[in-house]
Amino acid sequence: MTDQLMETVKNASVCAGGQIAAENQSSDFSLSIRNFFKEPLAVGSAFPASRWLVRRMLAPVDWRHVKLLIEFGPGTGVLTRFALSRMSADSALLALDTNASFVNHLRRSILDPRMHVVAEPASNAAAVIRDLGFPAADYIVSGLPFSTLDPAEAKRTMRASRLVLRPGGMFCAYQMRRSIEPLLREHIGSVRRGYEWRNIPPCHLYWAKAPEPDRNADPSGRKMLERRDESTGNQGEMP
Ligand SMILES: C[S@@+](CC[C@H](N)C(=O)[O-])C[C@H]1O[C@@H](n2cnc3c(N)ncnc32)[C@H](O)[C@@H]1O
Repeated sequence: MTDQLMETVKNASVCAGGQIAAENQSSDFSLSIRNFFKEPLAVGSAFPASRWLVRRMLAPVDWRHVKLLIEFGPGTGVLTRFALSRMSADSALLALDTNASFVNHLRRSILDPRMHVVAEPASNAAAVIRDLGFPAADYIVSGLPFSTLDPAEAKRTMRASRLVLRPGGMFCAYQMRRSIEPLLREHIGSVRRGYEWRNIPPCHLYWAKAPEPDRNADPSGRKMLERRDESTGNQGEMP
């Protein structure tokens, strides 16, 4: 790789609060490259996410109301640091990664009591949040390379995501290819798409929203249909 490309990629990285921290950046960068060459299919990209990708992908997040955000495949922690810099003091971030070097790097480089880094596949998210005592996640943020994941594991990951996301919660993902899109539609809900040219390599962005709670459902499971009584203006119920 030329020095010039190396410089461009470093400049595209982001860390907490949007400040450039040269030391963090170059260690993130070399760790990312080393691990990509060791495990290209699992790591998916040699480059950490750029600041443009991070900001755009996380733009719809309503930071004030995040109680739990789960990150799948945090890698060197570019998105992790950005999210922690926006989240409130009483929120939590759970990062799941299967690569031991990334897990160790995150534990060493981000000392934040709100962060839980667990060396487990994303498909185990439901068991992990149960063990940690969280009821559900408001957001899942994914850097997983779905196009190179084993298809059965990709499905398990989506099923687990649907289980852990609260109603109305959002799954945000970035991907070089579009293989995640049908999975999001099948398992999560409605999907919005974007494309970030300034990332290296450029990639697709996805935001999938889990259905909102059914306000017409009653605890017994019977449907309660709201019907406006024309004569009185009262809200009526139907069995
Ligand atoms: C494209 S990299 C993420 C890069 C990261 N967003 C960054 O900016 O540094 C993909 C990450 O997913 C992780 N990964 C791959 N398969 C996984 C799985 N099944 N569960 C959890 N993490 C996984 C890899 O170890 C790697 O850290």
